[in-house]
Amino acid sequence: FVPPSVGGGGGGTVAKDALGNDVKSTSWLATHPVGDRSLVQGLKADATYLIVNTEGSIEKYGLNAVCTHLGCVVPWNKAENKFMCPCHGSQYNAEGKKIRGPAPLSLALAHCDIVDDLVSFTPWTETDFRTGEKPWWS
Ligand code: FES
Repeated sequence: FVPPSVGGGGGGTVAKDALGNDVKSTSWLATHPVGDRSLVQGLKADATYLIVNTEGSIEKYGLNAVCTHLGCVVPWNKAENKFMCPCHGSQYNAEGKKIRGPAPLSLALAHCDIVDDLVSFTPWTETDFRTGEKPWWS
C-alpha cells in the first residue's frame, strides 16, 4: 500500500481535457472505447494521447503528440492504426514508435496513473520499452 501524497495526483500532473477540466478515469472510459487515442493536456501542457487499452482501461503510458521532426501535432489515424504526421509524412505505430521518417525519434512517453479517479502523468525516465534505449526526452 502506498498512501497518496499530499496535494493529490500522487505528485503528478493531472490531465486536462479540451475545456481545461481535470480528466476523470471513469467518465473518460464511459465515452472513449477500447483502442481510442485522444488528446489531453499532459506534462508541461503538451498535447498528450491517452490510450484506452484492450482491457478497457487507460494505458499506463501516454504519448506526447508532438512530432519529433519539426513539432507538428500528430493525428491518430484509426483506419491505418498509426499516427500519421500531416506536415512531412512521418509515421508512428500505435505505441508511438517511429516507423517512417523524416522524424528521427519515437513519440515521447509519460507515465500515466489513476489517482483517486484522476488521470495523472509523471515523467518517464526509464528505458523506452519500444526501442530498448534510454529516453531521448529526459
Ligand atoms: Fe512531422 Fe515533419 S513535423 S513529419
